[in-house]
Amino acid sequence: MAMTTHAQEILAFPPGFLWGTATAAHQVEGNNTNNDWWAWEQTPGHIADGSRSGLAANWWQAAEQDLALAAQWGQNSHRLSLEWSRLEPREGAWDEGAVARYRQILEYMRGLGLVPMVTLHHFTNPLWLYEQGGWENERVVSWFARYVERVVKSFGDLCHFWCTLNEPMVYMAFGYLSGIWPPGGGGLGAVRKVLRHMAQAHAQAYEILHRHQADAQVGFAKHFQLFEPAEPRRRADRWATRLVDHLFNESILVALTDGALLLPLGPDLGRRGGRWADFMGLNYYARNLVAFDPRRKEELFTRRFPDPQARYAVEGWGEVTAEGLYRGLKRFAAWGLPIYVTEFGVPDNDDHVRPWFLVEHVATMYRALQEGVPLKGAYFWSLVDNFEWAAGWSARFGLLALDPATQERRPRPSAEVYRRIVQANGLERSLVAEFAPQLESQFFDRGC
Ligand code: GAL
Repeated sequence: MAMTTHAQEILAFPPGFLWGTATAAHQVEGNNTNNDWWAWEQTPGHIADGSRSGLAANWWQAAEQDLALAAQWGQNSHRLSLEWSRLEPREGAWDEGAVARYRQILEYMRGLGLVPMVTLHHFTNPLWLYEQGGWENERVVSWFARYVERVVKSFGDLCHFWCTLNEPMVYMAFGYLSGIWPPGGGGLGAVRKVLRHMAQAHAQAYEILHRHQADAQVGFAKHFQLFEPAEPRRRADRWATRLVDHLFNESILVALTDGALLLPLGPDLGRRGGRWADFMGLNYYARNLVAFDPRRKEELFTRRFPDPQARYAVEGWGEVTAEGLYRGLKRFAAWGLPIYVTEFGVPDNDDHVRPWFLVEHVATMYRALQEGVPLKGAYFWSLVDNFEWAAGWSARFGLLALDPATQERRPRPSAEVYRRIVQANGLERSLVAEFAPQLESQFFDRGC
């Protein structure tokens, strides 16, 4: 790659860059008994290791202890989500007790110097919504609008940085296609409804937040996956890759930013030409190869799998490689909007991968910044081990290792790597030399 190397000993990030970690309410709060996930967890077979979210990381009682560490490690922002089922436990009711607790957490964060980025929907739904068809019911758009209006009235003095929806495509794929998440399937008709309603809900939330806050920054978190043809010379694989990329990456990205519903989500919302985002959030985890496979009608004749040559890949997940983050950043940059990496992380229970993962992904962000990508911040997934949806407690993502039974936590070695990156506001040469030596000559001058 053509890149100027540096005589200095650090790959410096721009001043004011936001460094943080991300969490989601249901995964950390504990005892979220009033949502669809809690109900789902009670059925044997739904969660890989038979576990339940239970007390999770006990954030409803004690979020402060982990947030204090994040700030102590130099982080200046944190992305968290609000649990709709706590705030609106019954249709139309608003729980002032839950408001008070979230206000306490947000005030605490601000006191620590952690800018809150607040996600409004991160996979879970109140039971009352679930029982009325969830996101398949067109009324969800106005229910969500009412919720967002109350949220901005309740927390607007504490937060200006909003992420409407987390990963609509992941929500759709697991909930309505594979059915490994609630509601457990639904088919293509349901898929189209759910995604249209999510796109509409996002656009409405954008308008409501701006109506109440002149300086609101409103975006979303889109899970970007890098798809490449299994056999690049095979036309059928190239076609399959384009199809998967269009469906998973492109269509929803266009819907959330430009308000246009491309096929198969379309016809469009009639909003083309507008802008329904002030920033774009990119969640990145993996790369997958795509092959044409005539036997897989239910997956539109495509098959996705990690490269067998991959240095590190997790079955059913993909290959862990920073190249995909680079490609995602370059692609998002075409919109000209500020970009945040709203999640990046790796399932790695014994912390063998996370240190080099961090260094390589942060080096990639630097490379993108050098090439003019308007990247403004990054949130590592996650601060503390948490309830990993259908994988339960079997997949660990935290800088802090957590024993959910005793609630004891212990920083993993990677916490120190991230601390050094964040406190230096950049990547020191010594970290690159230690954890990603193959990158050293790409970024730094020889012979210092
Ligand atoms: C994302 C999701 C998070 C977390 C993470 C790790 O797709 O937004 O909630 O589960 O993946 O799997």
